Amino acid sequence: MSAAGSLCVVGVGPAGPQWQTPETAAALERATDLVGYGPYVDRVRGEGQRRHVSDNREELARARQALDLAGAGGRVAVVSGGDPGVFAMAAAVMEALDGDADGRWAGVDVTVLPGVSAMQAVAARIGAPLGNDFCVLSLSDNLKPWAAIERRIRLAAEADFAMAFYNPVSRARPWQLGAALDALRDVRAAATPVVLGTAVGRGEQERIHVTTLAGVDPAEADMRTLVLVGASTTRVMERGGRTWVYTPRQYRPEAT
Ligand SMILES: C[S@@+](CC[C@H](N)C(=O)[O-])C[C@H]1O[C@@H](n2cnc3c(N)ncnc32)[C@H](O)[C@@H]1O
Repeated sequence: MSAAGSLCVVGVGPAGPQWQTPETAAALERATDLVGYGPYVDRVRGEGQRRHVSDNREELARARQALDLAGAGGRVAVVSGGDPGVFAMAAAVMEALDGDADGRWAGVDVTVLPGVSAMQAVAARIGAPLGNDFCVLSLSDNLKPWAAIERRIRLAAEADFAMAFYNPVSRARPWQLGAALDALRDVRAAATPVVLGTAVGRGEQERIHVTTLAGVDPAEADMRTLVLVGASTTRVMERGGRTWVYTPRQYRPEAT
């Protein structure tokens, strides 16, 4: 058997190479094999590496395939969008390793490299909406029950966190964002700022809409959208013809 190789989990950012870190770019260049969901692997330039693409729902199987390739001596890069630790492949690789009872991949050198996540890219476009405490939720109920998601949203709203919602809708999950917003409306003021950031960083596809909890239309979101919801202290500011949204560093709520 050949000596075990290495596996590096990387995130290529939420759009083009402008949001890929030099550390990630170097790891991708060194790799012999790229493993990941097709659209993410497609973002990697270069011709030298073998490409192993699979469906986005096959994360654990993909992690095991990547570990097998590394176990056979490859320098494998597992490619995620955004940051690999945020609703992405790093957790799947950890889960596969945790289930490695017979030590099949014991010799594989594993690393995880950080990347720019979609919430950072969207937040930066409009100022600093995540400038104070915030929480991050995926609205996908593929891997967890909807009741748990709704409970977390209600508790986070009561605790006055700003929020970032990933995976707000897909063709198979058309109602979840509407239900999440309804849960928020039970607790939060109608004027709470809401930002829909779609395909941020992807040229002409990019769309940013600043609205409110009363005004937001879930039909505007698609699977390329990240939704930011303000805390009670989040403010909207017009300056030089631009709209900015920010949450001050000091927390002084008018009402809790
Ligand atoms: C499976 S999650 C992956 C998240 C990724 N690991 C990250 O850190 O950004 C995919 C979700 O990320 C968000 N997303 C990814 N790229 C985006 C972009 N360019 N603009 C807005 N949201 C984006 C959307 O909510 C999308 O449904």
